Amino acid sequence: MRAPFIVIEGLDRSGKDTQSELILEYVSSRMKAKLIHFPNRETTTGRLINDYLQKRVKLTDTEIHNLYAVNRREEEVAMRHDLLNGTALISIRYAFSGAAYSKAKDVPELPLEACLGPDRGVIAPDTVLFLTSRVADVSARAGFGDELYETSPFQAKVAASFELVKQESVDSVRWVDIPTGTIEEVFESIKVELDRMLADAASDNLGPIRRLWA
Ligand code: TMP
Repeated sequence: MRAPFIVIEGLDRSGKDTQSELILEYVSSRMKAKLIHFPNRETTTGRLINDYLQKRVKLTDTEIHNLYAVNRREEEVAMRHDLLNGTALISIRYAFSGAAYSKAKDVPELPLEACLGPDRGVIAPDTVLFLTSRVADVSARAGFGDELYETSPFQAKVAASFELVKQESVDSVRWVDIPTGTIEEVFESIKVELDRMLADAASDNLGPIRRLWA
């Protein structure tokens, strides 16, 4: 049985960590499941990304964009192996953040096509759960401002470019905008999607692994 691949996306401090723990617990009660997170800050590329985000090293916009994409490619073999061997994957962020954050920089060297390019053909998730949120709410959360991209004007641009990325993605993935609410309300909306996906997985209806934006 091919296992489902779920991605959770949203602005910084939008509640992805909290919801992904709930998702992991829910899915794990029915099948093997693993939580992953991009950027994976444990690898060589991830440590460099971490230094960049912590403002310890400077990289060009193109360099950091490609580095994020390489950081994802590093995991592809392991991810494919898990999915084909019945382990569901829940990923906090994926190529959608990759494209949305770089597009939000609004620099000539990164038009939308260049933002999507390095991730074309990566493993497509079955569902993207996009946590909609207001910039005013996320910017009021504890810790907001610690890392490079955590400013309100930039997050507003990221929200707008997630819309562009969504338009590019709806043909190849199921994209679900999750309305804002309490932790419990948000998870209730997510659960509807999880139930649908778990039913598809149980009846072997997920189909083969697809490629994103390809
Ligand atoms: P994190 O807070 O989920 O660890 O992500 C760190 C930051 O990196 C966050 O501001 C979003 C940003 N990001 C990108 O710019 N491109 C990417 O490809 C990914 C995965 C994250």
